[in-house]
Amino acid sequence: MTRSGLIWSILAALGVGGAAFAFAIAWRPAIAEIDPPKPQSFDADLVKRGRVLASIGNCNDCHTVRGGKNYAGGLPVPTPFGTVFSSNITPDPETGIGRWPEAAFRRAMRSGVARNGAHLYPTFPYDHFTNVSDEDDRALYAFLMTREPVHAPARPNQLSFPLDQRMVIAGWKLLFLRRGTYQPDSSKSAEWNRGAYLVEGLAHCGACHTPRNALGAERISAAFAGGDVDNWQAYPINAASPAPVPWTAEALYAYLRDGFHPDHGTARGPMAQVVSNLASVPAGDVRAIAIYMADVLGPPTPDRKREGELALAQATKPTPSAPQAEAGGAAIYHAACATCHESGRQPPYGGINLGLSTVVTSPDPRNLANIVLSGIRSVEGERSPIMPGFAPSMSDEQIVTLLTYLRTRFSSQPAWTDLAKLVREARRTQTVFLQTSAGPNSAPVDAKQRGVP
Ligand code: HEC
Ligand code: HEC
Ligand code: HEC
Repeated sequence: MTRSGLIWSILAALGVGGAAFAFAIAWRPAIAEIDPPKPQSFDADLVKRGRVLASIGNCNDCHTVRGGKNYAGGLPVPTPFGTVFSSNITPDPETGIGRWPEAAFRRAMRSGVARNGAHLYPTFPYDHFTNVSDEDDRALYAFLMTREPVHAPARPNQLSFPLDQRMVIAGWKLLFLRRGTYQPDSSKSAEWNRGAYLVEGLAHCGACHTPRNALGAERISAAFAGGDVDNWQAYPINAASPAPVPWTAEALYAYLRDGFHPDHGTARGPMAQVVSNLASVPAGDVRAIAIYMADVLGPPTPDRKREGELALAQATKPTPSAPQAEAGGAAIYHAACATCHESGRQPPYGGINLGLSTVVTSPDPRNLANIVLSGIRSVEGERSPIMPGFAPSMSDEQIVTLLTYLRTRFSSQPAWTDLAKLVREARRTQTVFLQTSAGPNSAPVDAKQRGVP
């Protein structure tokens, strides 16, 4: 966001905040505290369902700091307006939600209000969670209230006035929070409806994949048209998808469930955590998500279909081997990349032909820069893809030369511009991302408990 855009949005937020005062909706009543319920008081099956739902909702992704205690919060979530820190959602009575009755938890999920009545920042994606059914909120509550309580006081947010005033959020909600439970579409299958409920609600796919307006709200008219998250691009996953081979429900299922499909490659960066979580979710739910998303993407046009077939055919043809005197990007590619990416091997060591990768056809080269710099780390205890990071061994200039070559060699799209600045920025933010977040490609927080209630 540009600086003037930011100032404008702060002013707008102020105005909206003022309007909210006028409507006198700015403060909500506190809900009385309860004595922390005993973990044994929750039904085991309910807790088990809650675990699955927490995985679909990626609660661990934002509420657990790398190397920290599960769900103890404190993760800095960057926004264009400043940094909001996630809360401690363990049942600790002093610093967590131990004294929250279920009604307070449900109100937080549905309308973004804390137990004490304070409005919560929409970095907590309640604009999606508002769809979650009462039964599912109950299961999530049971799951969280049976976790290990962790004493971890909240970290103060880094927001400037007036956005540090939680009142302002009331105005934001007035404009952008569309409350309501999911209304099934009776013209569609039960599976499609299940997928829509999850994608639009708990799984909050649009939180990353939908672009946002100046006030940080998703642009409903551009649903799934591509968004930004932690200096990665979350690609368009609607009709504008730049994937060389059009996505199908089967490919989506494999990608979301196993984190890999041979026509598309692997999920990385913030998407790696999403996929890690979906690996422990019942297959039926992931299939429902895939079926709904395939419908959002729509059937490919005849042109897109032909391009996809061409990309697949090209992918089997090796790049002409490097002549002795080859220089520049081609030389770097043959020396550092082709051995794995044109070996015809499957992961963990073989990578896909880069002509099949959205990373190279996307108008936005950030993800490619990120991957070349940090590689792909294996997930502990799994046969997951491995690629070395080249941050220590390649200079920014070499990476720029390589990226320029890959774009011409593996796509028919126009050249990227401003690569030098972009690579510099990618190197800087990569370090920050690796230090603070549980991703990319790290083991899921609950890895040890996968599949276990
Ligand atoms: C994209 C990041 C993100 C995800 C995903 C996320 N949260 Fe949060 N959550 C936050 C942030 C940030 C806050 C703090 C908001 C604030 O302080 O205004 C928060 C606050 C909360 C609160 C309020 C706690 C309090 O003490 O006020 C609850 C409850 C909560 N989250 C539950 C969940 C659950 C359950 C899930 C999964 C279904 C989840 N969150 C997923 C970022 C996230
Ligand atoms: C935390 C942010 C985030 C969330 C939540 C998220 N995604 Fe993604 N997604 C990304 C990013 C970033 C990428 C690009 C990753 C890469 O380059 O490998 C991506 C990539 C994808 C791709 C690959 C697109 C392509 O053409 O290669 C698909 C498909 C996808 N996401 C679907 C989903 C679905 C379905 C959901 C919800 C279940 C979801 N995503 C939730 C961030 C997110
Ligand atoms: C040791 C083997 C190895 C080397 C060397 C290697 N890669 Fe990879 N790479 C992989 C594996 C494995 C994956 C994950 C599977 C996949 O997605 O292709 C991957 C994934 C990728 C992806 C994501 C593709 C997608 O959409 O899923 C890109 C882009 C990439 N590598 C680029 C490069 C570049 C550029 C180089 C050289 C600088 C390189 N790789 C060197 C093994 C390697």
